[in-house]
Amino acid sequence: MDFKNKTVLVTGASSGIGRAAAIEFAKLGANVILVARTKEKLEQVENELKKFNVATLACSCDVSNKENVIKMSRMVFERFSSLDILVNNAGFAIYDSVTELSVDDIESQMKTNYLGMIYCVKAFLPSMLDKKSGHIVNVASLAASFGLPNIAPYCASKFAMLGFSEGLKHELRDTGVGITVVSPIMVRTDFFDHPSFEKMPKYSSTSLDPKTVAKAILRASNSSRLEITVPSVARIAVWLKHTFPFFINPILGRSFKNQSDSSKK
Ligand SMILES: NC(=O)c1ccc[n+]([C@@H]2O[C@H](COP(=O)([O-])OP(=O)(O)OC[C@H]3O[C@@H](n4cnc5c(N)ncnc54)[C@H](OP(=O)(O)O)[C@@H]3O)[C@@H](O)[C@H]2O)c1
Repeated sequence: MDFKNKTVLVTGASSGIGRAAAIEFAKLGANVILVARTKEKLEQVENELKKFNVATLACSCDVSNKENVIKMSRMVFERFSSLDILVNNAGFAIYDSVTELSVDDIESQMKTNYLGMIYCVKAFLPSMLDKKSGHIVNVASLAASFGLPNIAPYCASKFAMLGFSEGLKHELRDTGVGITVVSPIMVRTDFFDHPSFEKMPKYSSTSLDPKTVAKAILRASNSSRLEITVPSVARIAVWLKHTFPFFINPILGRSFKNQSDSSKK
């Protein structure tokens, strides 16, 4: 796809996967709107994009707050006539058992990871439908297909994102607007800096570089597929789980539970 002069909005653009995606889009000539809560970090990324000579806008916005998202969308439309690509990437996880997590902890993950995406879709989809073109990219996770111990609410938020995207994809048929979910395995980012991950090994040898996921996001923004897993071989794990759930689920559950039990010792 030719990204030159396209306008792209990336939530969670101040760090990790979102930052890497913003850079990759700008490298190819797209104008980039950077969204996250921390203004200073957004401005740092905006400065990094200067060398690509594209238009940028840094919007401080908490996507879990719908009034904030409406305000942010007004700022976007004051500056740009339309949006071509919306990347819903802002998200986080709190690592603990359902027994230990508070209801607020559980709600906050759903509000950012799932409802934040919904608020952005509701704010920007109508303009895409008006011009009969555009693409929504939702960054989920392989945890959108596997319910895992100690990240159950996070998995739920990503399952919800995938289910919503599948339903919306059917609604969008023949409108000129597409939607694709990008589901990576572990990625080396600040995601694991949340204090709840303190006792967990931060990365494994298979953890991805954020740039690899960013490139998948660019591919997704022009794809007719519902879901792109990163790496693509991870699709086999999803297939195995759906095809042999009684066999695969207990093995996976046990191995993740053992890992978390030993990290707590
Ligand atoms: N890292 C992994 O292993 C991994 C694997 C699969 C999927 N993912 C998904 O990838 C996405 C990006 O994560 P990452 O790994 O790049 O983590 P990260 O480095 O921690 O980046 C998260 C980004 O989201 C923003 N954010 C968090 N809450 C927000 C809110 N309420 N409103 C607006 N922005 C918010 C953060 O900025 P502020 O704090 O300044 O708001 C930051 O820019 C997430 O959806 C995550 O679930 C990550």
